[in-house]
Amino acid sequence: MDRILIRGGARLSGAIHISGAKNAALPLMVASLLTDETLTLRNVPDLADIGQLSSILSVLGVAADFQRSETATHTMVLRAKEIASTTAPYDLVRRMRASFLVLGPLLARMGEARVSLPGGCAIGPRPVDLHLKGLEAMGATIALEDGYVVASAKGGLKGARFAFPFVSVGATENLMMAASLAKGTTILENAAREPEIAELGTLLNLMGGRVEGIGTSTLTITGAARLGGADFAVVADRIETGTFAMAVGATGGEVELLGARPDHLGAVIPVLEKTGLTIAATNQGMRVKRNGARPKPADITTEPYPGFPTDLQAQFMALMATADGTAQISETIFENRFMHVPELARMGANIEVNGQTAIVSGVERLKGAPVMATDLRASVSLVIAGLAAEGDTIVNRVYHLDRGFERLEKKLTACGADITRLKD
Ligand code: EPZ
Repeated sequence: MDRILIRGGARLSGAIHISGAKNAALPLMVASLLTDETLTLRNVPDLADIGQLSSILSVLGVAADFQRSETATHTMVLRAKEIASTTAPYDLVRRMRASFLVLGPLLARMGEARVSLPGGCAIGPRPVDLHLKGLEAMGATIALEDGYVVASAKGGLKGARFAFPFVSVGATENLMMAASLAKGTTILENAAREPEIAELGTLLNLMGGRVEGIGTSTLTITGAARLGGADFAVVADRIETGTFAMAVGATGGEVELLGARPDHLGAVIPVLEKTGLTIAATNQGMRVKRNGARPKPADITTEPYPGFPTDLQAQFMALMATADGTAQISETIFENRFMHVPELARMGANIEVNGQTAIVSGVERLKGAPVMATDLRASVSLVIAGLAAEGDTIVNRVYHLDRGFERLEKKLTACGADITRLKD
């Protein structure tokens, strides 16, 4: 298993190209199941999760061709001319929860689907009850058999009104795709408003669908008899952008984040400015700068978009670990998303957890240590801590990082960081 060695202390300076958003690209790829025509996605990040989803889609009959480029962005060409199987097997689904998104599109196109329940994951139990209730509201019959969700809708799915009891990104995406091929109109209330949802709505419209209310919490989707192909570029990753901004906050320095969309970080930028970062939109993205003093403390509570994203909570905690004061960090989305705390503590961080709140008392300097990555965002928080720390940090279980950060070491090295991948 690869590890990452970081010699801490270097300030970051230069420019970093922000990749396409993983969490936007995954549902867009799944949308290929809705048509027998070609879907071309540009600016797709080269990540383990993207490869994993391609494998699942190919079992279902999607021909997926990933065209990598050294100099430009990568392109994924997908075509589900015929659905070869309506079963998404356990072995593939358990590795990545996002693969559960195939349920709605398969059911809508084929009238049946058998998709393994994804099970729990490191950050919490993460049920899929809302996905299932929404599809039932649209006329699907759902049974659980041998760990599989077996869904059928013999005469096709029917438009329905469904109000989410709380916001779910994945369930909103699953139902949007299903509704696009259902008979009649579906109204989704209290829908997620993340930019990734807007991306999916925009793509469905390009494919000939009708999704109204994009960007609001009420989506009205008029089903089409068939959808066609499209050519679409994936938006820049707001989580990768926020992660590098926090890395600059932790080390000091000045970095331009090329392609970044500051408008997708409305709740994050003011918090980072409070910690002492200077952030400015540029023609090419945004510039992030911190000089001199230690970061100042700021409190956050994670919330669905447009609130502070749970996917940046661990990175922000690493930044606050060296703040000049005490910060309160509350996690409201996932039950078990503080697994980075004991690892940061191994580097000298002073963090006390009470239920879903962590009190971080900043220390002057973190110290390098061997640490273990536990999930994707937790692992990059350890990289941020390592960049700011005195001495060497070794991050084990780097495969978590590879799920969601493209060429992380290369991007950071180009800005002056001392970070290397150790191959075993
Ligand atoms: C998406 O997960 C993202 N994944 C996550 O990113 C992100 O943390 C999360 O949204 C919240 O922003 C992708 O987009 C692929 P949810 P998702 O459904 O869709 C509960 C990363 O690091 N819930 O909005 O699975 C659930 O347990 C990942 O890139 C139900 O109870 O998140 C959680 O507590 C991690 N029943 C809350 O809702 C359901 O049917 C929000 O989950 C569905 C969800």
